[in-house]
Amino acid sequence: MDLYKILTFPDPFLKTVAKPVTEFNDELREISEKMIRTMYESNGIGLAAVQVGIDKRLFVMDVHFNKEMPEEERNPEVIINPEFVEKSDEQIADEGCLSVPEFRSEVKRYGRIKLRYRNLEGEEMEKDAEGYLAVCIQHETDHLNGKLFIDYLPPLQRSMVKKRLKKLKSTPAP
Ligand code: NI
Repeated sequence: MDLYKILTFPDPFLKTVAKPVTEFNDELREISEKMIRTMYESNGIGLAAVQVGIDKRLFVMDVHFNKEMPEEERNPEVIINPEFVEKSDEQIADEGCLSVPEFRSEVKRYGRIKLRYRNLEGEEMEKDAEGYLAVCIQHETDHLNGKLFIDYLPPLQRSMVKKRLKKLKSTPAP
C-alpha cells in the first residue's frame, strides 16, 4: 500500500506554516486519499499535510476511529484552509501526536469552536464542534501553523520533553 512517511519531532519541516490551497484538483484528491490511508495505518485520528512533508493547509481526521472497528464504519473527513470563526469556553484534553511518538500530555484548548473551511470540491463549509472533535481540529490546525502540542507545555517541562524526544530519536532501533 502506498503510504506517506510521517515526519517526527524534531524534523524542522514540522515548523512550516503551510500555504492555502488554491487548486481543487485530482492531485489534491490523491494527496488526501494517501493521507487518510497513512492516518489509519498509523492508528491516528488526525493527520496534517505538514506532517507528511506537504506545504498545504489541509488535514484529514476521523475522531471516532479505532483499529477494531469495521472498515465500513470509518468516516474520514478532509478539511482544507481551516479558519476559526468562533472560539469559546475551555477544556483540558489529553493529547498525543503521530509526530511526537510515545508522549502524551494535557493541553488547554477551546471547548467550542466554529470552523470555516473548504471541502475537496472547493466548496465553503462550516462546522460547529465541541469536546474531542474540537480538540482534534485545533491540534491539526496548529500543525498547519508549524505548531506542535508540546509547544504549549510550560518552558521547563517543554525543554525536558524535547531533550528526551531528541534522544529517543537519535537512539538506533534494535
Ligand atoms: Ni499531531
